[in-house]
Amino acid sequence: MREYTPENITDAVLEQMSTAPDPRMKEIMESAVRHLHAFARDVNLTPAEWLKGIEFMTKVGQMCSPARQEFILLSDTLGLSALVNIMHDKTKMEEATGASLLGPFFRENTPQFEKGEQIARIDKGGSEVVLHGRIANASGEPLPGAQVTVWQTAADGRYDIQNSMEEIDCRGIFRADDKGNYLLRTVRPLGYFIPLDGPVGQMVMAQKRHGKRPAHIHFLISAPGYRELVTALYLSGDEHLEDDVVFGASGDLVVEVKANDPASPVKGVPSIHFDFCLARESEADRRAGRIGADPGQL
Ligand code: BEZ
Ligand code: FE
Repeated sequence: MREYTPENITDAVLEQMSTAPDPRMKEIMESAVRHLHAFARDVNLTPAEWLKGIEFMTKVGQMCSPARQEFILLSDTLGLSALVNIMHDKTKMEEATGASLLGPFFRENTPQFEKGEQIARIDKGGSEVVLHGRIANASGEPLPGAQVTVWQTAADGRYDIQNSMEEIDCRGIFRADDKGNYLLRTVRPLGYFIPLDGPVGQMVMAQKRHGKRPAHIHFLISAPGYRELVTALYLSGDEHLEDDVVFGASGDLVVEVKANDPASPVKGVPSIHFDFCLARESEADRRAGRIGADPGQL
């Protein structure tokens, strides 16, 4: 009868799992087991500590609802979402705008707007800002009709969905015009704390991290034949650009709010200008999927 030891148990598990018919599933599971076992050996994990880990993951699962995805938050705060994003970004067929996190506040249920319309309920306050620019491909050709979905915090530093599932504010879908230009009005977003009232927040606070994201505006941009772009623009000057709690901010996505930009189509309102570039879509892109999802769809 075989005897398991810390040294041989990993191979025993891999041997038993070797019958898995799906080769990609087999590869992923084998690697996960190898790394999990190595981790347990590395820290000499005790039964009490592993039980604490299981309790933690149980609480993460129990916190999930159609309005809240604590597992995405866990993946984000561990830098795993950013890692998967960065690796995926490197597989694009040509140079294009870099990706950033979708985050847990994206909603499929987003209203359509006409070019130039305001997406924020300005009766709630906040300083108005214009967003404008061009959507083009890697050869610089405009992409008329490209769909531009935006979402961000309102003037109180919260996403609409954090108030109620029914509230819709500071999110909208626009279309690029026949020259590939997009234009919308919003309010200046604020930096915010990620949701800290659950197990992931407890972890972040136990690690003495600040738990904040720098001010940003999310974008999801798509056009037929091009890889969907999930990204965000980060406002220059924010104190947490360098230590975003979810590792999403990067230098190529930092923008300035300009008081009087002569290039802005709207005069007298501060503006942000950013031109987006989409990479052509490959066969593999169609299978890779989006990183993150509307929690209501999971
Ligand atoms: C966000 O940008 O909306 C976000 C991303 C990751 C975690 C929490 C919030
Ligand atoms: Fe966000």
